[in-house]
Amino acid sequence: MPNILEIVQPDDWHIHFREGDMLEMVTNYSSRINNRCVAMPNTKVPIIDSNKAILYKNKINEASKDKFEPLIPCYLTESLDINDFKAGIQNNSFFGAKLYPSNATTNSKYGVRQISNIYNLFEILEEENSPLLIHGEKVSDKIDIFDREKYFIDDELKVIREKFPLLKIVLEHVSTAYGVKYIKQNKNIAGTITPHHMLLTKKDVFFNDKIDPHHFCMPVVKDESDLIELRNAACFDNTKFFLGTDSAPHPIEEKKNNVNSRPGIFSAPCSIELYTQIFDQENALNNLEVFSSINGAAFYNFSPNDKKIKLEKKDWIVPEFSVYKNIKVKNFYANKKINWKVIN
Ligand code: DOR
Ligand code: ZN
Repeated sequence: MPNILEIVQPDDWHIHFREGDMLEMVTNYSSRINNRCVAMPNTKVPIIDSNKAILYKNKINEASKDKFEPLIPCYLTESLDINDFKAGIQNNSFFGAKLYPSNATTNSKYGVRQISNIYNLFEILEEENSPLLIHGEKVSDKIDIFDREKYFIDDELKVIREKFPLLKIVLEHVSTAYGVKYIKQNKNIAGTITPHHMLLTKKDVFFNDKIDPHHFCMPVVKDESDLIELRNAACFDNTKFFLGTDSAPHPIEEKKNNVNSRPGIFSAPCSIELYTQIFDQENALNNLEVFSSINGAAFYNFSPNDKKIKLEKKDWIVPEFSVYKNIKVKNFYANKKINWKVIN
């Protein structure tokens, strides 16, 4: 097997930039590797109108030294200005829209309580052939945290797909074998897969009454059988799954070792290398490029990127922290060895 791998430059179809210094730090990491990125709209002040989307895009562009294209979905709420929403979709200020069920994850309290209340927005998306990106978890006291994805698919997603059969949907950060199967069996739906959902199981997160907050994310990582199905979906015979890191930084002081901690795993310093290592472990390096650089662009009707990036097979250790100005974030895979590294 060659020591150098060259692939078409990737896109990250799911990443969190935040704001201020954090946005600068994340942009430095992401623009080094990717050409396009879907910059998730769950900022402290969520991106609920086209003006905010334009400002957010400009901020990321100002922070990036390299050519880099942020795409900003509209944060869906039950009280959006419909005219602004439609215009923003039509003039590409918005890159589709993101559905956060209310209280499913970080900064989702303005999200949607009753999905039928936003069918008028889905109609616009369907008409404009603009994608709906979904945080697919149903949150309820009656539903176990590990079953949220399954319940979302059965109770919500199936209804959305029946009512809007032509709506293009991405089930973000698929976390279960059930989700993988649903995507494979249905039309007009694709999925992003994170590195951490292919590396961790619940045993890496929950210990008696404590958690490892740096392995805590939404949707939470699940069982070995789910991890295996996610790896198979990403690595083999794959046209419906693509790269979306869900890299989601939180300053270390906001991470607590209980489930009230802010969910989010920060993989931006090593995401493409982790994906490469996973594909290598699965003897599927030949399929990495399709997952990282082709399928997502094809689903969203973009051309693949012109540039290429190179990775070299060599060991390096992921630093424990990313530090930038006054910000300190614990890196995913901290102090662990990865055997691929991007080279220029
Ligand atoms: O773990 C997560 N963190 N999942 C999400 O969906 C959001 C993200 C964040 O913004 O921190
Ligand atoms: Zn996310």
